[in-house]
Amino acid sequence: MLQGRRILLIVSGGIAAYKALDLVRRLRERGASVRCVLTEGGAQFVTPLSLAALSEDKVYTELFSLTDESEMGHIRLSREADLLVVAPASADILAKMAAGLAGDIAATALLATDKPVMIVPAMNVRMWEHAATRANIATLEKRGVLRVGPVSGDMACGEYGEGRMAEVPDIVAAILKFFATPMPDRPLAGRRALVTSGPTREPIDPVRFIANHSSGKQGHAIAEALSRLGAETILVSGPVTLPDPPGLSAVHVESARDMLRACEQALPVDVAVCAAAVADWRVKDAKDQKIKKKNGKSPSLTLVENPDILKTLSTAAGNRRPSLVVGFAAETENIVKNATEKRRRKGCDWLLANDVSPASGTFGGDSNRLHLIREDGVEDWPKMSKADAATRLAQQVADHFRDLPFRPAGKGA
Ligand code: C5P
Repeated sequence: MLQGRRILLIVSGGIAAYKALDLVRRLRERGASVRCVLTEGGAQFVTPLSLAALSEDKVYTELFSLTDESEMGHIRLSREADLLVVAPASADILAKMAAGLAGDIAATALLATDKPVMIVPAMNVRMWEHAATRANIATLEKRGVLRVGPVSGDMACGEYGEGRMAEVPDIVAAILKFFATPMPDRPLAGRRALVTSGPTREPIDPVRFIANHSSGKQGHAIAEALSRLGAETILVSGPVTLPDPPGLSAVHVESARDMLRACEQALPVDVAVCAAAVADWRVKDAKDQKIKKKNGKSPSLTLVENPDILKTLSTAAGNRRPSLVVGFAAETENIVKNATEKRRRKGCDWLLANDVSPASGTFGGDSNRLHLIREDGVEDWPKMSKADAATRLAQQVADHFRDLPFRPAGKGA
């Protein structure tokens, strides 16, 4: 449910900091990766070691900020996340945020970020009710900062009232809701997307295989663009040299049959984009042992057809989940005509046709010239970078779903 989501958790000072340890566990249990920043005040209550052990990542503290700065600037730290959560958020850090101070690594990350921020305040009731805190909260909320709690109850200081940090399940629920709520810059929040990318590798024997030239650049860019618009994205990729894009969950496969299995496991989804160059055939009876040369006699390979993943996803009987299926057609001639026929044959809703003639430089290159073919016509896109083509497709997917009733396709939905 939080698969692939990256959360930067800023733990500031306060007795409630112990709850941050459990929060890390609960978020990771749901598939999120959590990176922690611990303020000097926070370190009075929990240790960097506990947070590092639970997050299985380095913990950023002021103590080590000089070395951290050389390894990873605070700017990157705050932007390589999908959401910043300040829990507990002390009166002090809230005041720093409201004033725009940047005197330590936590405040700097909060000032440098371009990502949404959620605060989980925790403090004494009088501090919470103080006019200064009220004004700081009002300032932060006006800027779009999200808030969970505080709640009323007994306080560690012996007083009673509002100021207790929200309980971990409530914080997790707020984070889940954040990722499921469409907002202007995240119109696909709450939707699930599946993208296939790269080539497949069909074994001949344990050391040899049949593959193709696909670099995975276009498919990976599409997965990244869908994820950026808020979709919970599963990228099923054949062997490529590209790193996994941030913010999504990547499944690495080799053969077409592995790829189909991984896609079926990812269902139900709202949208599937099949950008992989799946091998049409595999070797019948691939050998378990390396085939040896036999006095000048070449072995002959018998090929059998692979499952067609795009067709399988497009034609699933009954309540098809992906409700929108997008395919690709690599053509070298009569591009639109051939692709229009292919769209019908495959049963997909949209088909992006691209010119892969050697002169086009599409394979392995950074740009693409695409035609988007739908039931109601063809849209010719100008030549653009694969990243821009991905953004354009993701935006059209978002437009498509904006007008449809919202029906999240979460697992088991
Ligand atoms: O039939 P052709 O390979 O030209 O179709 C290309 C489209 O079909 C692409 O979207 C590709 O990802 C998909 N495909 C697939 N499984 C196959 C063959 C192609 O998903 N076995």
